[in-house]
Amino acid sequence: MMDSRRTFLKLFGAGLTGATWTAASLDAFGRDHRTSPFGRFTPIRVGREDALRLPPEFTYDVVALWGDRLPGTTDRFGFNADFTAFFPIGTSGHEGVLWVNHEYIKDPKQPFSLYGQSAPAVLGHEATVEDELTDIGGSVLHLRRTNGRWTVVASPLTRRFNVRSRLTATGPALRDAGDVGGTLANCSGCQTPWNTVLSCEENFQDVVPEAVDTAGRGTIGGRFNRNGAHFGWVCEFDPFDPDFTPVKHTALGRFRHENVTLRVTPGAPAVAYMGDDRTDGHVYRFVSSARYEPGRQRNRGSLLADGRLYAAVFHADGTGTWRELTAATPLAPNAASPVPTVPAGARTLGDIYANQGAIVTDAFRASNLIGATECGRPEDLEVHPVDGSVFIAFTAAAERGARLFSNLYGEVWRIAEDGDGTGLHFTWSRWCAGGPNTTARGGAIFAAPDNMLFDRAGNLWLACDMSSSVLAGDDPRYAAFGNNGLFFVPVTGPTSGIPQQFASGPSECELTGPSWSADDSTLFLSVQHPGEAHGVRQSRADSRGSNWPRGTAGQTPRPGVVAIRRR
Ligand code: FEO
Ligand code: CA
Ligand code: CA
Repeated sequence: MMDSRRTFLKLFGAGLTGATWTAASLDAFGRDHRTSPFGRFTPIRVGREDALRLPPEFTYDVVALWGDRLPGTTDRFGFNADFTAFFPIGTSGHEGVLWVNHEYIKDPKQPFSLYGQSAPAVLGHEATVEDELTDIGGSVLHLRRTNGRWTVVASPLTRRFNVRSRLTATGPALRDAGDVGGTLANCSGCQTPWNTVLSCEENFQDVVPEAVDTAGRGTIGGRFNRNGAHFGWVCEFDPFDPDFTPVKHTALGRFRHENVTLRVTPGAPAVAYMGDDRTDGHVYRFVSSARYEPGRQRNRGSLLADGRLYAAVFHADGTGTWRELTAATPLAPNAASPVPTVPAGARTLGDIYANQGAIVTDAFRASNLIGATECGRPEDLEVHPVDGSVFIAFTAAAERGARLFSNLYGEVWRIAEDGDGTGLHFTWSRWCAGGPNTTARGGAIFAAPDNMLFDRAGNLWLACDMSSSVLAGDDPRYAAFGNNGLFFVPVTGPTSGIPQQFASGPSECELTGPSWSADDSTLFLSVQHPGEAHGVRQSRADSRGSNWPRGTAGQTPRPGVVAIRRR
């Protein structure tokens, strides 16, 4: 048997020049990445209609919509579905558990809120904060497939998590918090090889206070009246065990976590990559103290509890450095980004912060103190399943960042670590770019890359998130892109990096959280915030607003999750 580290290095070495497909092309889930069941399809054109449009070879079924009563419970499916992850049950291929994140709700008291407008029709009453507390977090759906259709079934596994759920914390921060008070702002995440979910808290600052002091202490407040220091973390859930108390892994830092992705090799530390989705946010890496060995009980809730957290410095020459967020790291403050007050004579992070818990709790400002690069809103990061390189979706331009992030339409970068992937140096390249429709692009365009997913052939599926404020033709710079879509982007071969559109979402929505069923015959996909900018579409002639999924003018649009399959 090939030594796992040598296998990793061999595959990883192929990273930026095109992968070598070998019999060792198996990921941590044992999948063979040489073929993709979704295979060939007829790419679609840019969409502008209020419909989820797919290639003619494919169709979809709705799995769950906001407000649906979950079978066997008194709970309802949450709002703004985002990240999904499918876990098979048994070997039939027709049963499993689907995790779904529920990301955010725009304040119903703001001038226009889709949630506020929709609540009377969906919930039967005006929206309250209590409703909001209920409708974000996560859902666990026990699914069965009959005649090709996945449906939610009553089961002890079908359940909800939200701000009222009990969660505890691991790592250097929140040591005395006990029950940290639920989870919110759950954007993207990942599925661990030990069959748990890592769900990431992103725009918590919209509902609780973001600021903390240099002792890591937050304050209670915001629309949700919660302690802001308790949110902005990576949370681990066990979809299969209702008795497991979910945990927030504070060693992975507190910031506006889009997602987390893992590279695990038996006998080596687990490595996690993460992005802070804000203008001038940073890219992070975590290296666990413990070495990964396969097994559910030995990793669940503990493997990510202790380790080192780093922020990336991207140099203009295509090299990069990881700077550790720890007391001994010298100060090298970014000139124009937020930092705490630096006392006279302070030389290291340890001279500013009370302890390691405070450093990770204030990760954004601490990263600015040590000169980490301000980036163009890092959204998803994903580890390539074959060569171990890391793809990063920078969704927009940065305001700072040494002019490395100037593309308004965003870019996907690819980084390759030096050595075994736990050292301090890496190289990076711009792998593919969003942009306007030039002659050379011939319509093969995207803007605002966000969620990413690899298929078993190692090719990329890329979901885009132009904000609702620029959709519907309101901003001419985005008019060519139509509605938000999902794109297939080959990673090798002559069409590498050229997007082919697979799906176009309904009006004013974002397609989020793609994931495969265990046999890769189904692509689960969230349709988030259809009609976000203009709400209920009142007439079929109206290009604004949405009635998805019903499609009848006057019907309330409802975010939800669909299952896409070949006809
Ligand atoms: Fe929730 Fe960064 O998208
Ligand atoms: Ca996202
Ligand atoms: Ca986004």
